[in-house]
Amino acid sequence: MRTPLIVGNWKMNTDRDAARALFAEVDAAAGTARTEVGVAPPALWITDLTAAAQAARVYAQDCSAHAAGAYTGEIATAMLRSAGAAGAIVGHSERRAKHAETSAVVGAKAAALLSAGLTAIACVGETLEEREADRTRDVVTAQLRAITAAVGAATVPGGALGTALVVAYEPVWAIGTGRTASPAQAQEVHGWLRAALREAFGDAGDAIRILYGGSVTAENAATLLAEPDIDGALVGGASLKAEAFGVIIAAGSART
Ligand code: PGA
Repeated sequence: MRTPLIVGNWKMNTDRDAARALFAEVDAAAGTARTEVGVAPPALWITDLTAAAQAARVYAQDCSAHAAGAYTGEIATAMLRSAGAAGAIVGHSERRAKHAETSAVVGAKAAALLSAGLTAIACVGETLEEREADRTRDVVTAQLRAITAAVGAATVPGGALGTALVVAYEPVWAIGTGRTASPAQAQEVHGWLRAALREAFGDAGDAIRILYGGSVTAENAATLLAEPDIDGALVGGASLKAEAFGVIIAAGSART
């Protein structure tokens, strides 16, 4: 049984005080939850939050694919580890679209995280245009293959692929739009992704969690998380409100 994982992606929101206050509430909720809980704050707040954390994990929203050197503004995976982060989100559609990140770069970042002993939460997802052209399966499978190929070559300490790699299916048309994939639509894609993971890793692929993301709310989390291959949620807007995020955490716990 895969342990559900609920992660809040705060994006470029919160100041230092707001981040500490919100995290205190999330950490308390994580303490009584039967699901893993994490947040991905702006990188500047990571050390504050890891110092305070009792139960919730702290992730970065991105990382560099490079180990060190002349990469102004970038953060290396070893720095994240040294700051106490559990890993990082890679390949978020906002970074693919607004920062021109290719699948090859996303794969390299995921591999860098795994090599550093950290968890990669690797995002895939189709645009509305791609969905309407019936290309969803091809698009998300190609994005995932770039990640599994890169990660396959990385050293996974202890061979613990199930904790080292997390996949997040985030249809671009559902992110920040209030338009959620229906549980059936999401499950269909998660099933395709599960098949691709098995193709890449054999039985070990079954241990990898696949999260759904895209307008997850307190209201729709329970029905999404009732689907067999939806192992958790990557939550944007609703993760900035402790109460709503607490309801989503409870929906994750109900899955266990
Ligand atoms: P949203 O964002 O929940 O605000 O749609 C999800 C995400 O981008 O991870």
